[in-house]
Amino acid sequence: MHADDVVRCHVLVIGSGGAGARAAVEAAAYGETVMISKTLIGKGGCTTMAEGGYNAVLRELDGCPMHVEDTLRGGAFLNDTALVDALVTEAPARMADLVRWGAVFDVTDDGQVAQRPFGGQRFPRTCYAGDRTGHEMMMTLAERLRASPVEHLQEMTVIELLRDGDRVSGAVALDRRGEMVVICADATVLATGGGTQVYDISTNSAAGTGDGYALGYRAGAELVDMEMVQFHPTGAVYPYDARGRLITEAVRGEGGILVNAAGERFMHRYDPDRMELSTRDVVARAIATEVLEGRGTVHGGVYLDVTHLSPETIEERLPIMLEQFLQFGVDIRTQPMEVAPTAHHLMGGLRITPEATTTIPGLFACGEVTGGVHGANRLGGNALADTQVFGKRAGESAGRAPVRAHSVDIAQVDAQYDRLDAFFEGTAPPSTITDRLKLAMWRDAGIFRTGAGLRSLAATLTELSAEKPKASGPANLLECCTVENMLVLSSLIVSGALLRRESRGAHVRTDLETAWPPEASPFGHTYQSIRGKGIEGVRP
Ligand code: FUM
Repeated sequence: MHADDVVRCHVLVIGSGGAGARAAVEAAAYGETVMISKTLIGKGGCTTMAEGGYNAVLRELDGCPMHVEDTLRGGAFLNDTALVDALVTEAPARMADLVRWGAVFDVTDDGQVAQRPFGGQRFPRTCYAGDRTGHEMMMTLAERLRASPVEHLQEMTVIELLRDGDRVSGAVALDRRGEMVVICADATVLATGGGTQVYDISTNSAAGTGDGYALGYRAGAELVDMEMVQFHPTGAVYPYDARGRLITEAVRGEGGILVNAAGERFMHRYDPDRMELSTRDVVARAIATEVLEGRGTVHGGVYLDVTHLSPETIEERLPIMLEQFLQFGVDIRTQPMEVAPTAHHLMGGLRITPEATTTIPGLFACGEVTGGVHGANRLGGNALADTQVFGKRAGESAGRAPVRAHSVDIAQVDAQYDRLDAFFEGTAPPSTITDRLKLAMWRDAGIFRTGAGLRSLAATLTELSAEKPKASGPANLLECCTVENMLVLSSLIVSGALLRRESRGAHVRTDLETAWPPEASPFGHTYQSIRGKGIEGVRP
């Protein structure tokens, strides 16, 4: 390895979704910033696919205390309160940044940013751009990045973080031809997004493989609450190719109702007060229960119906939903949609402070790869706000990191060459491992869990980890690294689920009685790092 092969910068941002882009914009004010993207800037990640909205307190009748309380209640009180305070108090200012930079949100007749109701909120505080809010945000951030000095390394994927003693000092990446690139940085921001691609049915794009959780874990960072996986209540059920695709909560926010195959509006059985606008954990379990108890459709879903709304409301507020279902042969102005839960978001992730520092010096993190903000269940609309609030904070903290002399530890780079070489001697095509993984995760680490199912899943993961992914050429070395990351992430989810011997938020153990309400739980965060794992709190 020659010095010419090494990219040097002050801040390296890994990931180019909403959080990564916001971090890079901020960090660029402090020094040379490089942003590395698995896909093309603005095209990958979950932000651009986020439909429904961005939660911010903008009206006098609302208030930060109410947003905080809704978030904590929705999160089954597992949230880190300092992170929630930061999220809620800063969300309006970060929203104003976006508007100043050109984002066009829907407005009311008197020109104020419009807000719609989302689940678990006592005030309609979700700001939106039709049902393509994330796309509008990403286009705005991409424009801002183009006008900034941030250097973009596109279609390049980090395969390992570099260490200098106890610090993270950059990363090793692969480009799409399978060539290795080394980046040295004074500060590194992990903004790699989520990883629900480890499930058979998921809203995430193909890029949502959880690389950041695995990179952070292998580098020694601590992760919290990895068992907390959000199943969005409404994913597409058919056609088969569209299975799991997000049907935005905005459909229910605009008045959509859920009906079982017998034509019964069933949410009164699960949350008579909030009905369809209950929190996602409750609505997802309600739909799954209707299907399990035989009241689902032939395709294994329920109906989401907006036919009582005016065609104009649907056309104006839900244009993407209308267009998407027309492609499936369903006109939602006159016919119901068929929906079922789909793996959507990981509430767990790297432990961070409000300043977005992780437990390792030199490593900062923001967005979905972090844990603690959303507790045991995230409110719809809080994720887009999270990307902007903690993206800015991570960029700022990383930017302020001291400048250091960069030296590359050749042994760490060589270890990556050895790792890649070993894939040519692998035993199983990567896709056969991931296919089995996704089915096993869906079956045993889904909405309803048992100790026996989780233990059997842990054994399956051990078996799959023993099957070395095989590279057929340099271009699929990355796929092999991705399989390893997906296995690490899955193991973290399963270990967390075994540690948490209670039902709380999105984590339901049907084999255990939980004798306390969430606010009185004796358990705190589950934590895992290469040094050990456990659960905070006193065992009852
Ligand atoms: O349903 C949705 O539009 C998703 C929003 C979110 O996950 O925050």
